[in-house]
Amino acid sequence: MTDLAPAADSGSTDIPGKPTSASRTTLSHIMTHNDTNLLGTVHGGVIMKLVDDAAGAVAGRHSGGPAVTASMDEMAFLEPVRVGDLVHVKAQVNWTGRTSMEVGVRVLAERWNESAPATQVGSAYLVFAAVDADGKPRRVPPVLPETERDKRRYQEAQIRRTHRLARRRAIMDLREKRAAEGIED
Ligand SMILES: CC(C)(COP(=O)(O)OP(=O)(O)OC[C@H]1O[C@@H](n2cnc3c(N)ncnc32)[C@H](O)[C@@H]1OP(=O)(O)O)[C@@H](O)C(=O)NCCC(=O)NCCS
Repeated sequence: MTDLAPAADSGSTDIPGKPTSASRTTLSHIMTHNDTNLLGTVHGGVIMKLVDDAAGAVAGRHSGGPAVTASMDEMAFLEPVRVGDLVHVKAQVNWTGRTSMEVGVRVLAERWNESAPATQVGSAYLVFAAVDADGKPRRVPPVLPETERDKRRYQEAQIRRTHRLARRRAIMDLREKRAAEGIED
């Protein structure tokens, strides 16, 4: 399903929806020598931490409480990031299910002391599950896409969701089949 109807597994239609813009967030950080790898450019893990931080803030804002990272996929590093770059991590809720949210993140970099436009250096999609005080999944408000870009992102997120579930199911089926055949690994 790739239209804008609530997902069949969302089950959250009786919770008032929240527009995408209500939780959209940008986190900005200047890269220093503490952030570099052995090549002298910024370590990918430093960028991933910023991505997780920004996405976590968005998920917490959207869901109105704690949310944990369930998965991160399609993390792409498009250009190296250098010491002295001002990095902007832009995150928004793309899609909501019953208790989970897909957050899309774009990473931009610009020289901290120049006025040249920022360039995109990375992107990622993360799934967060909203949790209660016991760490159990709790329901989230449906996201209400506002712009055509939000609507495209919602539809694309539904495609990724379908593929994640299908991949997980296929792997579980294979493992069960091998176990049933008595194969040990
Ligand atoms: C994420 C977590 C809460 C899921 O708990 P669970 O008991 O498996 O609950 P469910 O199977 O009902 O999953 C809850 C939601 O998360 C989604 N989900 C769970 N694992 C997922 C994964 N690997 N990828 C994508 N979505 C996932 C489910 O589809 C479900 O979404 P929905 O309600 O919108 O359909 C649990 O696995 C957890 O606490 N993980 C640790 C999280 C953490 O510590 N993160 C920090 C990283 S160090």
